[in-house]
Amino acid sequence: MIQRKLFCFGILFLFFTITQSLRADVKLPDPLKNGGTGIFTLLEQRASGTRNAFPTGKISDTELATILWAATGLNRSGKGWTVPMGQGKKPYVKIYAVRPDGAYYYDWNTHTLKTITDKNIMKEINNDGFVQSSPVVLIFVSDPSEMGAMARFNEGNAVASILTGAMTQDIYLAADSLGISARYMVSLNEDKIKNAFGLKEGEVPLCIMPLGKR
Ligand SMILES: Cc1cc2nc3c(=O)[nH]c(=O)nc-3n(C[C@H](O)[C@H](O)[C@H](O)COP(=O)(O)O)c2cc1C
Repeated sequence: MIQRKLFCFGILFLFFTITQSLRADVKLPDPLKNGGTGIFTLLEQRASGTRNAFPTGKISDTELATILWAATGLNRSGKGWTVPMGQGKKPYVKIYAVRPDGAYYYDWNTHTLKTITDKNIMKEINNDGFVQSSPVVLIFVSDPSEMGAMARFNEGNAVASILTGAMTQDIYLAADSLGISARYMVSLNEDKIKNAFGLKEGEVPLCIMPLGKR
């Protein structure tokens, strides 16, 4: 009898644990794909959020979904990408999103934030107060395992850095259209990020981008 109760308790515990971790993933809403500020206006006004007055307004899931899609989303009815991907490959730079409620890997395929931790790791990624107070910080990580033959051109993370430049510029423009400030930054705590996300050999955090609604 006791064994049976223990068994039932075990099953319940397992069920609870699994549903808790599933619930933590965030299926993002569809990104906005039309409207917004005109491209030439955006180019004329593009600027980084300033270090001494970086905005801290919250970013909605639709806004984050739109920014992530602009950086690494499929377009042309699923035949191409919003950024030029070498040899038309799948994204070989991964994007992680860190918020006070946890840290996530952005899965472009399912358009989902996959929960890595529900701990607040804002203070671990960079030492700047304005970054730690941002509602969202994106982290760009090279992923040589998706580069195929292009990996041989990736010395010094060259291939990954070219893609990161395109992704972050798309983010500057899409974010500005939503009234959101962004800042491209190379100062980051590499070891802490590698640890927090369990990065594999060859996966390197290249830059971060705090975001904040004005
Ligand atoms: C390669 C690169 C690295 C950067 N790294 C940092 C950084 O570590 N910290 C920071 O506060 N800003 C960083 N920035 C942001 C620049 O300082 C910012 O873009 C510059 O001040 C120009 O401002 P603007 O983007 O408004 O034109 C970086 C920008 C680039 C292009």
